[in-house]
Amino acid sequence: MEEQKIIEQKEYIKKVKEINKNKQLKYYILTMGCKLNENDSEKMMGMLEEMNYIQTENMKEADLYIINTCCVRENAEEKVFGKLGELKAIKDKRDIIIAIGGCMMQEEHIQQKIKKSYPFVDIMFGTHTLYKLPEDIYITLEQNKKIKDILDIDGEVYEGIPIKRTSSNSASVTIMYGCNNFCTYCIVPYVRGRERSRTPQNILQEIEELAKKGYKEVTLLGQNVNSYNGGEGYKFANLLRDVEKIDGIETIKFVSPHPKDFTDDVIEAIKDSKKISKLLHVPLQSGSTNVLKVMNRKYTKEQYLSLVQKIKKEIPDIAFSTDIIVGFPGETEEDFEDTLDVAEKVNFEQIFMFIYSRRVGTPADKMENQIPEEIKHKRFNRLKELYENKIDENNKKYIGTVQKVLVEGTSRNNEDMLTGRTDTNKVIIFKGSNELIGEMINIKIISEHKWYLKGELLNES
Ligand code: SAH
Ligand code: SF4
Ligand code: F3S
Repeated sequence: MEEQKIIEQKEYIKKVKEINKNKQLKYYILTMGCKLNENDSEKMMGMLEEMNYIQTENMKEADLYIINTCCVRENAEEKVFGKLGELKAIKDKRDIIIAIGGCMMQEEHIQQKIKKSYPFVDIMFGTHTLYKLPEDIYITLEQNKKIKDILDIDGEVYEGIPIKRTSSNSASVTIMYGCNNFCTYCIVPYVRGRERSRTPQNILQEIEELAKKGYKEVTLLGQNVNSYNGGEGYKFANLLRDVEKIDGIETIKFVSPHPKDFTDDVIEAIKDSKKISKLLHVPLQSGSTNVLKVMNRKYTKEQYLSLVQKIKKEIPDIAFSTDIIVGFPGETEEDFEDTLDVAEKVNFEQIFMFIYSRRVGTPADKMENQIPEEIKHKRFNRLKELYENKIDENNKKYIGTVQKVLVEGTSRNNEDMLTGRTDTNKVIIFKGSNELIGEMINIKIISEHKWYLKGELLNES
């Protein structure tokens, strides 16, 4: 049934392609938010290119504009409205199509705001109707009609949407959609719907094809990857073991697991693996048991710490990264110190820090004990300071060691240098020839510079 829907869209792709014949039309896409959104954008790009649109990075010359939005925090939303202002100025002068989709569009109050204050937007589409982009574009072109194509139900899992990958050595593969956790601060379950897992066959086939094309690294994506359910008892650990067997894939990453679902079979699979990255992203959110309870995270400070301890014991060379929210409603000084304490104890390799942002429709938004902005910012800076001191400390441990590095390209700041990442996601800068791009090589680390490490090629290979 779902396949039928994609076949229909392929017909629309052909029709739009016919309309666009010989026109050399260009599209500009702006992607906000997480890796799941980036992967969705790759699918939109795949469809657009089959419709004969060519990508441009120059906003001024496009014929079709797509914004793939995020609503996880307020600042992401503000950016979209700024962009729409810029697009209005272009549309006043030229006949362009503006399409806006993604998570923000699933919010009723945003749909109304766009209709009222940004009536020049041609297409509004949601997270569950991404696959219908060809049809939406066709109707806009043919009938010059404004489209609102947003479903308020859980979407299905669609296979076979064309995709244009943005990297040629590292690829993202969405393994599940949606989230069932309803952390009280978070909008994602409302805009992405309930959990739906892809079948193991479809996922493995996609990764096998990537491996054949020369991809060396895959990142398995989902809001809660370790609650992946492939059916008939096939769980996330089974998937990890099957991806491990695919020849050509050298590095496997996944984001994000939930601490409450980090079962022993997953730890065993990582321990037995030669390919799974030794940097595990395990979102903490808060180190205070009280706050975690109100957040609906379903673990305590002690349970988080003992999970980390257990993993470190089983896999000694493991490192951790995390997400932390400061200033959640009701967070006391004592609660915040618990967060600092966990950060100190775990010694995270990387911390993604966020100031709590009120999201319309979530339980935490309605809580009365909101934290004043000033306190939130002070706490944020204290956590940042702890983290930055840890970076210096951690970096020093790398000096003199030899690291396996996936070479990503030339350095943005210095064209003579190459850049890549270690298994623990450290940025490495070193001298080498461009032929090494896409290769996995050994680098000896010689110095540290906070946000990157400098190294040298160990053996020309
Ligand atoms: N499903 C993933 C990530 C969800 S969104 C997980 O559970 O880890 C990415 C991060 O944004 C979250 O981990 C959280 O730290 C942060 N976040 C989510 N809602 C937020 C809010 N309302 N304010 C501030 N940060 C938020
Ligand atoms: Fe949001 Fe929690 Fe789901 Fe992550 S697990 S997407 S933080 S509700
Ligand atoms: Fe943002 Fe949607 Fe991802 S809200 S963080 S883009 S799932």
